[in-house]
Amino acid sequence: MKVRSSFAVGSFLTLLVVVITLTAFVYWTQNLNPNYLPTLDLYFADTYKGNSSGVILMWTHPWAVEDEGPEEGAVYGKCTVTYDLAQLEKADAVVFHYWLVPHTWLFYRHARQRFVWWSLESPWVVQWFENLDLHEHDEFFNWTMTYRRDADIYDPYYNLYDLWGKLERGKEAVDKIIAKKTGLVAWIVSECYGKKGAVMRMSYANQMLKILPEIDRYGECFGNRDEMPKSRTIEFVSTRKFYLSFENSLHCRDYVTEKFFQQGLECGTVPVVWGTKKSDYVAIAPPYSFIHAEDFESPEKLAEYLLYLDKNDTAYREYFRWREDPAMTLDQAKEKMKKQHPSVEVVTQKETGFLDLCNRLHADKSHQVITSLRKEFIESEPEDCIGKM
Ligand SMILES: *[C@@H]1O[C@H](CO)[C@@H](O)[C@H](O)[C@H]1NC(C)=O
Ligand SMILES: *[C@@H]1O[C@H](CO)[C@@H](O)[C@H](O)[C@H]1NC(C)=O
Ligand SMILES: *[C@@H]1O[C@H](CO)[C@@H](O)[C@H](O)[C@H]1NC(C)=O
Repeated sequence: MKVRSSFAVGSFLTLLVVVITLTAFVYWTQNLNPNYLPTLDLYFADTYKGNSSGVILMWTHPWAVEDEGPEEGAVYGKCTVTYDLAQLEKADAVVFHYWLVPHTWLFYRHARQRFVWWSLESPWVVQWFENLDLHEHDEFFNWTMTYRRDADIYDPYYNLYDLWGKLERGKEAVDKIIAKKTGLVAWIVSECYGKKGAVMRMSYANQMLKILPEIDRYGECFGNRDEMPKSRTIEFVSTRKFYLSFENSLHCRDYVTEKFFQQGLECGTVPVVWGTKKSDYVAIAPPYSFIHAEDFESPEKLAEYLLYLDKNDTAYREYFRWREDPAMTLDQAKEKMKKQHPSVEVVTQKETGFLDLCNRLHADKSHQVITSLRKEFIESEPEDCIGKM
């Protein structure tokens, strides 16, 4: 009798565990499934007659993570962002994060609306790391919104206008920046394998270490798992003369992430860049503000140059000249850049990302369909960028 009842209890508990696990699993897959919709009647009566509502509807948050992406109700120019799918009929634009696009579209859509593919990831990551089949979305989107200068909506990680408005400039500001330096090279990096560029940049930096006495490194690759708080990052980086702003991709067009501007220029170090082509930096950076690895024959030669700059204050300070003249306007800086690199088209666009999207929604009446997203975003890249590991 006793044996039997404990058997029954055991079976019941096993069943309970199975049910809970299944429920959790279904819940999890539903949330990951791009077709998943909470509660929404998608069959609208098509009664919306206005021309422009100014509603930008986000299909999901990026990676379905709630605090990612613009906030509910955020205002950009004449537009408002919402995640309320009930506004689908009214929306002027529907923005899909690259990672969460429905496989088939069963829902309302009107020809006046723009469906926008939004990605800040490199093509290598989209293709190999995420394994996305972009062919599924042929003739689905009207516009792309990426960091590439040739995207329909230009959405760079950072904008020179914002930097210009934010930074303290002038001789005294530069004196102060330089007086703070106590170390040579800082590097914060948390990806060292899994991505092609991540592996390559690590090997590049290790070769520099044959010449450099040290690189002050922080991040998961070096056993520091916790993200450094922002105030400490500023302190860590701004007390070093150089910051290694190495990307996790090689030669992907325009792929310059926030490390270049935020940890680099904003913190008052000289960014040493690797990964993206020099002309892509020239197009968006202040003149003579960074050191490009490909200007050197080898990592060792680059390391020797950093050591030279460490000893020659005049030569080091030349990298801050753009910051030294408080009267230099952004337009003048751009002119300078253009003169030094006549073949590069320097970006002059002030309004980017969602603001640019809003402006275009109101001003641009043309029709456009992206026949092949794969062709536009992946196949337009050089082999270095999209080739396998
Ligand atoms: C929509 O635009 C058309 C043509 O520009 C105009 O005639 C019409 O009044 C507009 N409708 C609304 C509801 O704003
Ligand atoms: C230091 O740098 C300045 C400016 O680039 C250069 O003119 C000078 O020759 C350098 N001095 C030495 C000792 O290399
Ligand atoms: C957007 O794309 C859809 C699907 O290809 C197309 O039917 C529609 O006319 C396009 N709308 C605009 C405004 O370009």
